Amino acid sequence: MATGKKACVVGGTGFVASLLVKLLLQSGYAVNTTARDPGNHKKISHLTALEDLGDLKIFQADLTDESGFDAAVEGCDVVFHVATPVNFASEDPENDMIKPAIQGVRNVLKACAKAKSVKRVVLTSSAAAVSVNTLTGSGHVMTEDNWTDVDFLYAEKPPTWGYLVSKTLAEKEAFKVAQDNNIDLITIIPTLIAGPSLTPDIPSSIGLATALLTGDEFRVNALKGMQMLSGSISISHIKDVCRAHVFLAEKQSASGRYICCAVNTSVPELVKFLSKRYPQYKIPTDFEEIPSKPKLIISSDKLIKEGFSFKYGIEEIYDQTVEYLKAYGLPKN
Ligand SMILES: NC(=O)c1ccc[n+]([C@@H]2O[C@H](COP(=O)([O-])OP(=O)(O)OC[C@H]3O[C@@H](n4cnc5c(N)ncnc54)[C@H](OP(=O)(O)O)[C@@H]3O)[C@@H](O)[C@H]2O)c1
Ligand SMILES: *[C@@H]1O[C@H](CO)[C@@H](O)[C@H](O)[C@H]1NC(C)=O
Ligand SMILES: *[C@@H]1O[C@H](CO)[C@@H](O)[C@H](O)[C@H]1NC(C)=O
Ligand SMILES: *[C@@H]1O[C@H](CO)[C@@H](O)[C@H](O)[C@H]1NC(C)=O
Repeated sequence: MATGKKACVVGGTGFVASLLVKLLLQSGYAVNTTARDPGNHKKISHLTALEDLGDLKIFQADLTDESGFDAAVEGCDVVFHVATPVNFASEDPENDMIKPAIQGVRNVLKACAKAKSVKRVVLTSSAAAVSVNTLTGSGHVMTEDNWTDVDFLYAEKPPTWGYLVSKTLAEKEAFKVAQDNNIDLITIIPTLIAGPSLTPDIPSSIGLATALLTGDEFRVNALKGMQMLSGSISISHIKDVCRAHVFLAEKQSASGRYICCAVNTSVPELVKFLSKRYPQYKIPTDFEEIPSKPKLIISSDKLIKEGFSFKYGIEEIYDQTVEYLKAYGLPKN
């Protein structure tokens, strides 16, 4: 299986990155990855557990360290920049998320420019950088041409605004730095991600995707907020998201942005689906104020035309996530 290829994954401990590291090792890549606290056994053990699968080295680096990524990136063919500061409770999103996300993009891409070996960089962006706008009505189709309205977010500061701004500005900065330094940059734009995680704790995106099953009121409200602000509930399986990362790294003809979304739905439609599929769980149904037809659809047409196909639909996403949650004693009925 060995491809002889060398990859670097920036921020290996996360939900997406840890499964991406696993997939790369299983596909024969040698992998360097970075973590902020490689000495912290609790935060890192799910990564060190992957060392048996192949050639994996873990480096210390923080997104705000100017030359922090040089060693890990050196000698690699492809670099996946997955890490991003996530702190929804922050009272200072500008300094906690927006600035470090942009600095991180600069620092990682500068390391890639220095290492002459790097042929392509894949940055993990988010639908947060595409779908937030002031459109009304329904049935709009969002593509890679669309960008989140940052002026609206700064003016209104709705919940989670700092994360949405950080993802949008970081992706824009990445294209700018890539152009200035002649770097072949691809961005992948996933929507909400669910499916089994390797991480020691349940990732916040799984908590959000399963809020209707667990009945967690704070998260149910966050899910409603997500639809109202971003125009839909759009979900993909973690394995498809990681497969798409590797696909885009290897596909010669790929360029620019790629939306990665398997399922477009809404809170009311999701309620119907979940109630029917899991009658054993008590699912809240009182969502009259939320439109059942999503305001917009996030289109993966470009990714599919490039030759990618999704393996997991809504049934597999939820069946596998529910099975995964059982180890944590969830959902409680
Ligand atoms: N999950 C989703 O539903 C979803 C949807 C769309 C897009 N995305 C994007 O996918 C990527 C991965 O998301 P995820 O869900 O896997 O996130 P996650 O599990 O919360 O992981 C975040 C990662 O970022 C690292 N990180 C945070 N601040 C850092 C800093 N200052 N320096 C270095 N590393 C830092 C963390 O490393 P430590 O271990 O050092 O804390 C961790 O590995 C992100 O870019 C996110 O925006 C995720
Ligand atoms: C990992 O980093 C080392 C040290 O900079 C480098 O020699 C190697 O090529 C890098 N890549 C991989 C995948 O080992
Ligand atoms: C999305 O992009 C298309 C093409 O540039 C544009 O016509 C449309 O108005 C954009 N939608 C929004 C909400 O910006
Ligand atoms: C989501 O929307 C895109 C674009 O219209 C479409 O190709 C895809 O089939 C839709 N997916 C679902 C599950 O509705």
